Parts: sequence; C-alpha cells; structure tokens
Amino acid sequence: MQRIIQISDTHLGTEPGPIRPGYPDSDDQLARVLAALRREQARPDLLWLTGDLAETPDPKAYDRLLHLLQTYVGDWPVGGLAGNHDDRALLRAALAGAGHPVDGHRVLGEWLLIGVNSAQPGQAAGHIDPAELERLDQLLSTHPAHWAVIAIHHPVVPIGSAWMDRIGLQNGADLLGLLDRHPRVRACLFGHIHQDFQARRGAIELLGCPSTCVQFTPGSQDFAVERIHAGYRVIELHPDGTITTRVQRVPGELPAENEA
Ligand SMILES: [Fe+2]
Repeated sequence: MQRIIQISDTHLGTEPGPIRPGYPDSDDQLARVLAALRREQARPDLLWLTGDLAETPDPKAYDRLLHLLQTYVGDWPVGGLAGNHDDRALLRAALAGAGHPVDGHRVLGEWLLIGVNSAQPGQAAGHIDPAELERLDQLLSTHPAHWAVIAIHHPVVPIGSAWMDRIGLQNGADLLGLLDRHPRVRACLFGHIHQDFQARRGAIELLGCPSTCVQFTPGSQDFAVERIHAGYRVIELHPDGTITTRVQRVPGELPAENEA
C-alpha cells in the first residue's frame, strides 16, 4: 500500500503573521499541522502540497515554507502545486532547490501520481492549458497498467457554494472528458476550497482538503469563514486500485468571532 498525505492552502504571508485581521498566523497554523503530522503519521510515500502556499508570492514566503517542512518533516518526500495565489516560477525555484518537484509525476508501486497545473497568472479561477492536458493524456497513456491519482489546485466540479464555484476550474469538462478515456484513474485531489469535500464520479473519488490556515463554510453562497480547525487528508492507495481516505483535524487557533 502507498500512503499520501495532502496539505493545502497554507497562505503564508510575505512576513509571518495573520494575512487578514482576525485570522490566525498562517506560519503558526502550518507549524501546528506539520507538528501533528510528525506526531500522528508514519513517513508517507508523498506529502502533496496542493497550492496557494503563499498568500502573495514572495521568495521569503517560500523560504519559510521550506524551513517549516525541513524542521518538522525534513525526511519526507514532498511534491508541490501552484495555486492562484502563487507564482509558479518562484515556487518551482524554491522547491527545486530542496529536490521537491512542482507539477511532477511519479510511479509508486502500482500507482501513478500526476500533478496538474490549473493556476493562471492574475486569475482566481483555474484553467488547464492545452499543453498541460496533453501532458496528462500522454502520461496516462504511457502507464496503462497503473492506477492513477491526479492532484490539481482548483476543484474539478462545482461544490455547491456560489462564490467559490465562480472561481473554480473553468474547463473542468475538458479534464473530466480526458479522465473518462483512462479507466484506471481512481482519484482527483484538490485544494482551493478550504474545506473537506468528497464526491464520486464513476470510478473517480473527487477529494477536497481543508486549509492549514482558515476554513470556508460549506454550502455558503457568499464568502464565509467557518470557525472549525485546520486539517490534512490521508489517502491510502491499495494495490487493487481501491482507496481509503479521511480528513484529520488539528486543534489550533480559530479566526476571531466577527470573521465567522
Ligand atoms: Fe486557491
């Protein structure tokens, strides 16, 4: 069995501290989640960071991300993805220095893991460009005997929250159409939505992840912060193509009452 741990939307500021009034400190929150991972989890086969790692892209934010990873889980394999808040080139440069790929792929036992870029410069909504779709198609085609998991920043389906669905993945239908041609795809992991989400489309589990910082209220039509704790997702990949997964919450600081 292979084990993946997903954390998402760390939103580290240019300097440590809250990124908005009433929010907890993004750095402290990430440190709590990483400390909990170290305490609660054996070393996974991959720690996957699914985007919005910086609030506003700055090398200092990515340096602190790396430092926190090094401090708490320095011996864990890490893969990254850019979100709409990130600068993909800066993130790539920072993570590459530590040997961590951005939008990479890897084979783990019977499983193929592929990171897909959906971040577009200057846009909150996501879009997968044709070259990235082609890359995904090629990778899946060249590993027909492997089960596959995709990770992408933006949610690939609407989640029933109007404000969020306006900034979701604009060409989700292109992605899902492509995945339909590859019957061994078993899961699609994403961030962006700052909440636990689980749905199923055919054989594919669609899995959203909490933020390590603040959480958004499920089902809310307008932007709303929910006062529940941060968390991470564990995904176990079994040799027969089945998946078991759960979200683990990590007690920490909640946003101020008037932010909820
Ligand atoms: Fe995002």
